[in-house]
Amino acid sequence: MERCDLLARYSAEAGRLTRPYGTAALRAAQETVAGWMRDAGMTVRRDAIGNLIGRYAAENGRPQTAAQTRTFLLGSHLDTVRDAGKYDGMLGVLVAIACVERLHERGERLPFATEVVAFADEEGLRFHTAYLGSAAFAGTLDPATLAARDDAGITLAEAVRAFGGDPTAIAGDRRDPGDLLGYCEVHIEQGPILETLGLPVGVVAAIAGQTRIAVQFSGEAGHAGTVPMALRRDALCAASAFVLAVEAAARSRDGTVATVGQITAEPGAGNVVPGRVRLSLDVRHIEDTVRAAVCRQLRARAERIGTARRVAVDWQVVAEADAMACDADLTGVLAGAVAQTGWPVHRLASGAGHDAVELSAIVPGAMLFVRCAGGVSHNPAEAVTTADVAVAIEVMDRFIALIATSATAGTGQLDA
Ligand code: HGY
Ligand code: MN
Ligand code: MN
Repeated sequence: MERCDLLARYSAEAGRLTRPYGTAALRAAQETVAGWMRDAGMTVRRDAIGNLIGRYAAENGRPQTAAQTRTFLLGSHLDTVRDAGKYDGMLGVLVAIACVERLHERGERLPFATEVVAFADEEGLRFHTAYLGSAAFAGTLDPATLAARDDAGITLAEAVRAFGGDPTAIAGDRRDPGDLLGYCEVHIEQGPILETLGLPVGVVAAIAGQTRIAVQFSGEAGHAGTVPMALRRDALCAASAFVLAVEAAARSRDGTVATVGQITAEPGAGNVVPGRVRLSLDVRHIEDTVRAAVCRQLRARAERIGTARRVAVDWQVVAEADAMACDADLTGVLAGAVAQTGWPVHRLASGAGHDAVELSAIVPGAMLFVRCAGGVSHNPAEAVTTADVAVAIEVMDRFIALIATSATAGTGQLDA
């Protein structure tokens, strides 16, 4: 908990926690986390995009089973949204380190290597994407993304270099699925279910898919005092009609959430009719077909609004991730670890996206949620209790032991 407080001081903005990819704040947070990894007996490296990776070697001696030459992954992300809480991402990295610390203190080695990965960009705050760190790790990063520009016009490739990485080496960082036993991520729930049920932890069954879209409305800038209302091609009025249509569409479809989180009106002067508006659209649903249908419906709605108001509409899908069902075997082991602590096992879906989604391209994944106050997240009021975090560490300690048992005994898919 003290470590979460300490990491929260590394911010790119005064007075609030904002830690985008490639910033000095993220680099400083990584240096501190790297120290904790080393103290826990791990060797530490950064990969080409700048993910921080701590490795706790397997027991010595000749590997007896295939599982013994492989790696089990733990971790989460160290970047944040703007004006973030101090647990989204960081808690998962720190609980993972706490588990390896326990092994190190007990002088225990597992039959496989354990890596704690602190991904360098999950939120996509700077380049409006998502999962840049885990996509590089999984080998799913589209090389075209390296040309993406941040709001200052800096490309991702330039940012990678400035962050001490090498954009040309990212493709080579793809981890071999044959080397990986599994991935387990601890994360705050970012929702109210565990608090409502009175449970400290929950097992994630599935993670909703998400589509991130950049929408631009182009009308005509004009003099606020002289352009008659009937003649206006006001981009902000068109965008405003669209924002409320987004809310109505999501409310009308069970299980759908849709959000306009960012909007800019240009030229941005009080006495000028806005000629151009750019906004972000984030659409999510646990079923990919429903999410696609909602996106189609909203695009058609934007175009109808544009036609009625003589405003042009540009629609760009910026990032898309399908829903993911967590791996049944790993999730079963995780549920067993929860049960061993005496707590009831509750399985729930995640509306928030996580690095486990991107990693599922190369490794089966499971997630443990930790209760958070009021379900609040992406907000400085984000809070967890020490007692609940202690339960999460206890669960993960037992989970790792169960994985080690099955890896040694050669049972189940872990010995595949
Ligand atoms: O947006 C999300 O779902 C996550 O916080 N990146
Ligand atoms: Mn987040
Ligand atoms: Mn997160």
